[in-house]
Amino acid sequence: MSSPSAPREAATLEPSPQAFRELVMAVVERLEHYLATLAEQPVSATAGAEARAARLAGGPPEEGRPLEQVLAELFDHAIPPSFNAASPGYLAYIPGGGLPHAAIADLLAGVVNRYTGVRPAAPALVEIEAAVLRWLVGVVGYPHDATGLLTSGGSLATWTALVTARRVRLGESARVLRATLYASDQVHHAVTRAAVLVGFPAENVRLVASDADFRLDLAALEAAVAADRAAGYEPFLVTGSAGTTNTGAVDPLAALADFAAREGMWFHVDAAYGGAFALTERGRRALAGMERADSLVLDPHKGLFLPYGTGAVLVRRGEELRRAHEVTADYLPPSGEQEAAFDPHAYGPELSRPWRGLRLWLPLQLVGTAAFAAALDEKLDLAAEIAAELATLAELDLVAAPQLSVLAFAPRLPADLASAWQRHRSNPTLRRDPTARAELAAALAEPNRRTRQLLAAINAPQRVFLTPTRLDERDVVRICVLSFRTHRDRLAMAASDIRSAVSAVLGAAWPDRA
Ligand SMILES: Cc1ncc(COP(=O)(O)O)c(C=O)c1O
Repeated sequence: MSSPSAPREAATLEPSPQAFRELVMAVVERLEHYLATLAEQPVSATAGAEARAARLAGGPPEEGRPLEQVLAELFDHAIPPSFNAASPGYLAYIPGGGLPHAAIADLLAGVVNRYTGVRPAAPALVEIEAAVLRWLVGVVGYPHDATGLLTSGGSLATWTALVTARRVRLGESARVLRATLYASDQVHHAVTRAAVLVGFPAENVRLVASDADFRLDLAALEAAVAADRAAGYEPFLVTGSAGTTNTGAVDPLAALADFAAREGMWFHVDAAYGGAFALTERGRRALAGMERADSLVLDPHKGLFLPYGTGAVLVRRGEELRRAHEVTADYLPPSGEQEAAFDPHAYGPELSRPWRGLRLWLPLQLVGTAAFAAALDEKLDLAAEIAAELATLAELDLVAAPQLSVLAFAPRLPADLASAWQRHRSNPTLRRDPTARAELAAALAEPNRRTRQLLAAINAPQRVFLTPTRLDERDVVRICVLSFRTHRDRLAMAASDIRSAVSAVLGAAWPDRA
């Protein structure tokens, strides 16, 4: 506990080193308890959260108040009623986990507060960031002259990649208005949003059909590009997903690389979720072709387990990233002896920025890369194991088997609905037809209600947290195994809670269980 002097000293802008220590120790004590009880904490208990939020909506006090009071407010009231993304039971969305080593790096970076926006201000610290970028370049199989930038997340990294593609290939010309961009209908909205924010007309973004395994359908892409050329458009960029958010599908990346090369198009890969699996043998096999992308996004706050706040964009010909972003200003320090060396402000849109490199560098230094690879291998095993178990349940369909560590399932449909859904999925014309979609959605309303009931029952014990998505009007439940804290014992809880929910909710659901 903090001594009586700490709160008083905390109320000044310049706490003494001793008071600083006491402040940190008070926080550490809270965090120690938090970590010790993490496995037992509910994983998504958000009841009453908005009422708590309202209590915190006020402005700051005129005079400071004791740290203990503030910590109690945070730990007892504000933090608990939220999705517990740090929990080993968090199998929702795309888990990150939040390596504590990286949190320590944030404290360190904040206290020493060096300026890493421009290289001459802290060359050694910028080089730490350059070194982790070089490591990432190697992980994805890029050549040595590739480089990149750490951003606040995948969306900003994607935006930076598309800015680069546009500026390098199209410059300021009006060609941007005729340029078309392609991705599968499963692509993350970070890509479609970035395209529009970068200045491409929204109607020039083509979402082509995905196949039965939710991968981009090459024939559909070829047809879309040919039709656009014939209509006078300039097919410009194709995105391949290296692990979609919906089902973890990996697009045919090598074939996409061939296609983009043939068509003279920029090849972007969204590996925000899946890219880190390149640390494993199986991941490298699944992601083959990713290394041929012109630009690539990989999120350390997903597959490298960092706390939220770190994405990475990598660009195959590193000087293109620089060419797209570099500006000069008289008040910046001269670049000095290392003119060609990595200098963050010249490679992205920010000038002042946090020292992002440290929060990836420190865990890698302390734990070593082998532990990351082993953890990711474990996630591949766990996803395969639970998928195999769910496939044995007669009441469920394994709608998407894991291609990496995401899978999706749903209550089995009656035979007529199952074939209607399959027919719809395999027919791109039907999928685009609003009337056919509305009819399918109406037919699936009742099964979808059951899926949501099933999901609520799975999550109710608060040992795991799964989230839904919708695939061609059919609601499904996803499992994403990605947290470094998720191990076999938690997947056993997941399987047990799914089984209980299945018998409670689907007991005698369908007269016709084909
Ligand atoms: C495949 C994929 N791409 C991009 C993003 C966007 O990343 P961020 O949330 O870090 O902006 C996500 C986020 O989950 C994702 O799963």
